[in-house]
Amino acid sequence: MSGEAPVTIDYRAVLNRYGAQIPRYTSYPPAPHFSADAGPALKQALFDGLVPHDPVSVYLHIPYCDKLCWFCGCHTKQTRRYEPVATYVDTLIAEIAATRSEIGFSPLLGALHLGGGSPSLLRKEDLFRLNEALRAAFDFAADAEISVEIDPSDVTADTLTGLRALEMNRASIGVQDFDPAVQAAINRPQTFEQTRDVVEELRSSGLCSINIDVLYGLPLQTPERLDRTVDKVISMAPDRVALFGYAHVPWAKKHQTMIREEDLPDSKARLADAARAAEAFQRAGYEPIGIDHFARHGDRLAKSARCGQLARNFQGYTTDRCSALIGFGASAISQFPGGFVQNIVPTANYREAVKAGLTTGDRGYALTPDDRIRGHIIARLMCDFALDFAELKRQFGADATSYIREARRHAATDSLGLVAIENDRFVIRPEAKPYTRVVASWFDAHLAAKAARYSKAV
Ligand SMILES: C[S@@+](CC[C@H](N)C(=O)[O-])C[C@H]1O[C@@H](n2cnc3c(N)ncnc32)[C@H](O)[C@@H]1O
Ligand code: SF4
Repeated sequence: MSGEAPVTIDYRAVLNRYGAQIPRYTSYPPAPHFSADAGPALKQALFDGLVPHDPVSVYLHIPYCDKLCWFCGCHTKQTRRYEPVATYVDTLIAEIAATRSEIGFSPLLGALHLGGGSPSLLRKEDLFRLNEALRAAFDFAADAEISVEIDPSDVTADTLTGLRALEMNRASIGVQDFDPAVQAAINRPQTFEQTRDVVEELRSSGLCSINIDVLYGLPLQTPERLDRTVDKVISMAPDRVALFGYAHVPWAKKHQTMIREEDLPDSKARLADAARAAEAFQRAGYEPIGIDHFARHGDRLAKSARCGQLARNFQGYTTDRCSALIGFGASAISQFPGGFVQNIVPTANYREAVKAGLTTGDRGYALTPDDRIRGHIIARLMCDFALDFAELKRQFGADATSYIREARRHAATDSLGLVAIENDRFVIRPEAKPYTRVVASWFDAHLAAKAARYSKAV
């Protein structure tokens, strides 16, 4: 928007109109639109479409934690005993072997991600077993990215041995906030020293890149408390930072009712906190990536963002360009060019299905031509804050025309000053970046059709 004066956006007007709830668009359509009719058969059809030398990504979900944080929105369960975790690993191994048989060959693995829950609570012998099962079923690419979500309070020498055996080269470390009052309000005690020691241990091999997750919008989180957390995070020099807004969805996550609503910052405070934290990361040399990530200039995520190659999947922003993502474990989502399939969510039912040799695919969605184009538009807005009309035509030919018309219509009727048309591109104004999900939702044909409840737009 060269030469134009900055626009002041009335956040109240945006919230009044769109304040309800908007998806995070880690997929289009989002998971609440998956249906039970489309699950099991679709999974087989999607496996049938895999080809040997096309790399796939693999996601393993570990739905256990030794302690439950009250803010947590992930699919997980607290366990005080380790036995259920070891039994779950048996099930995962069985699912991986059964999937290998269904596919009929060992696909090339370009990326592996262990998420949860807390994969860092796995004991080394279970990490060894998973590693063996994965390497028997997949042909690991020499440069495969192997990433693991890590809760520093789990990490012992045993965990580190297991993670090294897995050849982990990317760790994503949960911090959220270092302030003791905030930590008490979210049931997550975690000292700076403990976190720094884990970061140093992981770095000592020289091969591991580090991401740190920080949350704003937490209960009792004052600007000063968040600023101190941000400074401490910067002092550990992570390669990447994810700065997420706390999504308060107590109707879906009962333990979030432990958080007192009166302790939560309002939308105005959340916007200010997000902006201040983003400025601090940028002052420290991080480049902003998409709506909620920061990365050092030389990091792959920053390079991808600079050349318009950033992608989005269920784990958020990624450099991963594999056309298929195979999810293992309870609730894990698989993503293929033709659609999505989510595994059975309740862990006990998932285990029963694997034991009985039945498909783990439960709910799914087969993409229509309209979904593909809208999914592309939403992904580009979430990744680049812009939609390039020439690129849309290059990808979708004559079919792009009506969507370009739709984008122009949105720009012409946008009374809130969120977007503009510039050089044959539909662009989110820099001042409107906090409302990117709102703009993306204009292209969501499913949103109005289903009253799914998402977290607040801001
Ligand atoms: C599976 S968890 C992290 C791994 C590990 N269990 C830990 O807590 O350190 C992934 C990340 O999701 C984010 N997260 C979890 N619940 C959230 C919520 N309700 N709103 C926004 N982000 C959330 C947190 O930043 C968390 O670090
Ligand atoms: S934030 Fe991490 S450790 Fe806490 S409950 Fe969620 S998955 Fe478990």
